[in-house]
Amino acid sequence: MSTAAIHAGWVAAADGHRALTPPIHTASAFAQTSHASLKALFQRRGDGFAYSRSGNPTTAVLEQRITALEQGIGAIAVASGQAATTIALYALAAPGGHIVASSRLYGGTTELLDDTLADAGVSCTVADPWDLEAWEAAFTEDTRAAIVESIANPGAQLVDLPALCAIAHARDVPVVVDSTLASPALYRPGEHGADVVVHSATKYLCGHGTTIAGLIVDTGRFDPRRCPRRWPQLTERNRRFGVTFAEEYARGGSGLLGYARAKYVTDFGATLPAASAQQILVGIETLGLRMGKVSTDAATLAARLHGLPGVARVEHPTIPGRPDAALADRDFPRGTSGVFSMELTGGEAAAAAFCDALALWTIAVNIGDARSLVCHPGTTTHSHLTGAQREACGVREGTVRLSVGLEDLEDLWADLAQALSAAHAVGEELSTAA
Ligand SMILES: Cc1ncc(COP(=O)(O)O)c(C=O)c1O
Repeated sequence: MSTAAIHAGWVAAADGHRALTPPIHTASAFAQTSHASLKALFQRRGDGFAYSRSGNPTTAVLEQRITALEQGIGAIAVASGQAATTIALYALAAPGGHIVASSRLYGGTTELLDDTLADAGVSCTVADPWDLEAWEAAFTEDTRAAIVESIANPGAQLVDLPALCAIAHARDVPVVVDSTLASPALYRPGEHGADVVVHSATKYLCGHGTTIAGLIVDTGRFDPRRCPRRWPQLTERNRRFGVTFAEEYARGGSGLLGYARAKYVTDFGATLPAASAQQILVGIETLGLRMGKVSTDAATLAARLHGLPGVARVEHPTIPGRPDAALADRDFPRGTSGVFSMELTGGEAAAAAFCDALALWTIAVNIGDARSLVCHPGTTTHSHLTGAQREACGVREGTVRLSVGLEDLEDLWADLAQALSAAHAVGEELSTAA
């Protein structure tokens, strides 16, 4: 993993100046050698770049690197993690399909499914991925995709991906895994059955909170030709582009990604700028080192917080009683990332007092930064959800999300401990007043 993180997709000797790191190609368009060469690109014949909205040499290096890290057959870099999920689900399920979705998803994904995809006629059934019977019952004849997070945001719940994929694959339904919290340093969804992997590269792949970016990877398992009538957009000749996208599988490429890039990246204009791609490439170089430290430190902090006065519960796979402890041992030997949550007994007032009392941890709605960050999901990332949707993903009034950064563990702990005392005092005052 660490070797691919440094080298995949770029060879200095192939560059005219032997640049060790990929140059940032800011060009909007690329000069062609002839009328015929540009015409060929528009006819999807030949390799090369025409216009950066649908492809760029710097971005292509990032696409090759994430393909190598996830051991897939191809990838597309897009403008954000949200664009990655949106484009993957549109390409598989629009128009008019059905999606099975985990009850524990990032709030923005739930909103996408509930609102924007619903507007496009794509329906959705939500199921608890820890309840395999409920998961199985959620599939219909029209299901064209299932989506889960390998490690859920914000409660770090893990999924038994081989079991979930077996149910989906028995119906020829591809499984999309949002692996943002895990990153390929901790977990490769394709090895556990996933068909498509999406990342908010904004988080751990970037690692320093400087850039918004998203990635879609085809792991090479999905083949729409197994069920051609369900995927006419891939298996029939596309009138607009004059090709049958599924034919790209025969050449070792991804018909799904070819279609997603030609249609949705181009139409939505959800392009990743070359400078952003370069930031993510730099971040990926240290991914393995960072993921090891944040995973260990998160587990240590979660264990210290568990059972303290004022803490109703800590959500981390290592906390006693968590049903996914065995999954952590089986599938996540390198750790479960630096994100976890805890619920304070004093509700939102205690959560607010806790966040405001922190000095080293910063209140911000991001994760995977080098800095440690904290937020109250109920009023931010998951605020547009219904109460029932929040409860289903473990977001309660007193829940705070913690994203452990790269600072010294004892400094992080000292700050949490003093802020917890402040929050506990607020909680006590409230219960006395009541
Ligand atoms: C698990 C997960 N998926 C997707 C997203 C969306 O990513 P972005 O903010 O890069 O659009 C986020 C953002 O927080 C996330 O946490």
